[in-house]
Amino acid sequence: MSPRLIVLDDAAAIARHVAAMFAGLLTDRPNAVLGLATGGTPVPIYQALIARHRAGEISFRDAASFNLDEYVGLPRTHPASFAYFMATTLFDHVDITPSRTHIPDGMATDAEAESARYEAAIAKAGGIDLQLLGIGANGHVGFNEPGSAFASRTRKVTLTASTRAANRRFFAGGEVPEQALTMGIGTILEARALVLVATGAGKAEAIARMLQAPPSPDCPASALQLHPDATVVCDREAARLLDGPA
Ligand code: PGA
Repeated sequence: MSPRLIVLDDAAAIARHVAAMFAGLLTDRPNAVLGLATGGTPVPIYQALIARHRAGEISFRDAASFNLDEYVGLPRTHPASFAYFMATTLFDHVDITPSRTHIPDGMATDAEAESARYEAAIAKAGGIDLQLLGIGANGHVGFNEPGSAFASRTRKVTLTASTRAANRRFFAGGEVPEQALTMGIGTILEARALVLVATGAGKAEAIARMLQAPPSPDCPASALQLHPDATVVCDREAARLLDGPA
């Protein structure tokens, strides 16, 4: 089962497309469980969702959300924490109920207990309806770095040097944490639908590997080949190493 591939002109077109997927879900199922992601690529998608909310087209009032990951050791108030990112980029601008937004607690003293709590919260919510994913240049999804087992669950992981370097831009000169809590590949594959977004030439190799190499933990995103309802939405730059008609 191959992921559906949609190649669009630019980040704005990708944002419109993916925002329409989430808007359609919220319209069909106002109490949907949304899987959310951080990073640069999702920002225009969240802006498009905020615009639709302001236009009165969608409400998050009865929805719930689960984010993929969080840095270990950063409080929610730290400007580079994913909790802070989600609040300032999306949650503060829509009508979502804060107690129904979930992000792993990077300050938890017992990472194993926090990971188990997170898995249980996803299960209690009935599972994730649509999970948004970015992709690292090394093929990571969430913070599942190369080598992550496809059966992996939410857990504490160590970030690669390349991931820490890529994310340094969010830290204003501060050190990027070495560890994070992340949903596992197995957790992500249980979402009923997945949509992975990628823009720019820096993601081209990862997109080609995830779609055209045999599924392998060497490229965690290639696990999406095993999902019955996965969509990849990318721009021409990110699609440029794919063989055949794009
Ligand atoms: P980016 O991050 O959107 O900032 O490129 C994607 C990721 O690392 O998953």
